Amino acid sequence: MDTQIDLVIFGARGDLANRKLFPALFWLDHARLLADSVRIAAVARDDIDTSEFIKQTAKTLEPILANASSSEITWDRFSQRFDYIKIDFAEAKQYATLAEWRNPDRTMIYYLATPPTLFGSISQYLHRADCLNESSRIVLEKPIGHNQQSSTSVNDTVAQFFSERNIYRIDHYLGKETVQNLLALRFANRMINSQWDNTCIDHIQITAAETIGIEGRWGYYDQVGQLRDMVQNHLLQLLCMVAMEPPNSLQADEIRAEKVKILRALSPINSSNITEQAVRGQYSAGWIAGTPVVGYTEEEDCSNTTSDTETYVALKAFIDNWRWAGVPFYLRTGKRLKEKVTQVIITYKNHPHAIFPGHLDEANNRLVIRLQPNEGIQLEMVSKKQSLNDRLSLERRTLNLDFFDSTGDTRIPDAYERLFLEVIKGDQWLFVSREEIDASWKWCDDLIDAWEDKTVRTNAYPAGSSGPSRAEILIEKDQRSWYEN
Ligand code: BG6
Repeated sequence: MDTQIDLVIFGARGDLANRKLFPALFWLDHARLLADSVRIAAVARDDIDTSEFIKQTAKTLEPILANASSSEITWDRFSQRFDYIKIDFAEAKQYATLAEWRNPDRTMIYYLATPPTLFGSISQYLHRADCLNESSRIVLEKPIGHNQQSSTSVNDTVAQFFSERNIYRIDHYLGKETVQNLLALRFANRMINSQWDNTCIDHIQITAAETIGIEGRWGYYDQVGQLRDMVQNHLLQLLCMVAMEPPNSLQADEIRAEKVKILRALSPINSSNITEQAVRGQYSAGWIAGTPVVGYTEEEDCSNTTSDTETYVALKAFIDNWRWAGVPFYLRTGKRLKEKVTQVIITYKNHPHAIFPGHLDEANNRLVIRLQPNEGIQLEMVSKKQSLNDRLSLERRTLNLDFFDSTGDTRIPDAYERLFLEVIKGDQWLFVSREEIDASWKWCDDLIDAWEDKTVRTNAYPAGSSGPSRAEILIEKDQRSWYEN
């Protein structure tokens, strides 16, 4: 591992830094995976000093510190890594302080936990202040742009200052253990891989359901909606991991090349098929875990009570290649749904001839890959029901692979821990390439254009439900149903 690393976190006082980045770095330090020499510059515009920053960060991390063994020792070591640097990101001159902090002999990693509109200018000002060299890396949070054109412009600007091999575009889903486990499941198990195509698989479902709403982000979210917030990145990345061909090796370039092929093979959803293949919804008032919650347009910071921005999307997508021709991929994701669950369901075809009359429903094998909660894999199989009365009755049984149990650890590392480690190592395999961003926006742009023609209404669904009823129709008209736990 490269030990001569320094980290600079732009947006160090923001929600992402406090909720995800600092906890992840703390846990890495706790596991002794951060070299002692790593320094961290926390950059933000607030007028505080390093000791105040450390004090406030300790407060934010309190619940974590309370849970970690020997947390005082780690905290002492961890907090000494920090320097707080006050910079107004829009003021080129202020970057001089960072230039002074920088040690030119070490590899700098600039993590931009900032609005994407700042990616270009921050890169430029870093360059002007002489903070960059050949080895400097930049980490970009999603969303990169809001369509193909704007993402190209962001990528073009950043590319003036960083080479592609030094640009790390985050999709935090790729940092999740179970997503990486998809590679192991598919490519380390002959039995699974040999049944992974349109001759054996009936259809695939990918669900990312959340119980949370907009969480004080209304202004941002209303411009974005669930398609851009979740489908363009997380769901399409999951789809790629499920559908891509075996890469030649586990090298980043090989994996990313296979993912791009899938994104480019996605059959367009546009004005000609959007009403059959896409459903959009928006939550109205309802109940989550026994507590009443308001509807999307009644949220505290809502500034447009007639907004039709979608908080739910269901899609039926196809991949036009030999492996997947004819296999529907049903994707759904939404806010304020009845439970938080992210899972991939592979439903296998039945045998061409049934010799167990009356048992057609039981017969489909199903592979359930759960990303959260309770990370694990279940294989639903059919076996004989034990009974002397029945001659030969079937029942569905489940083989269970529970990741949490199998590690013996008390917690599964957060995605950001893994992603930080990979950036530090300089390995791009869990990051998104420019081509992937481009291809996924291209596919989403068609869909968004068709939506903007208003051909697809935004259907209301009560908070705490499983989404709009039209989403049920989308799949039921194919004689299938959404998998419910
Ligand atoms: C983020 C989205 O990228 O992912 C959020 O912007 C969403 O709206 C979050 O809530 C979901 O992530 P996770 O890991 O909780 O499934």
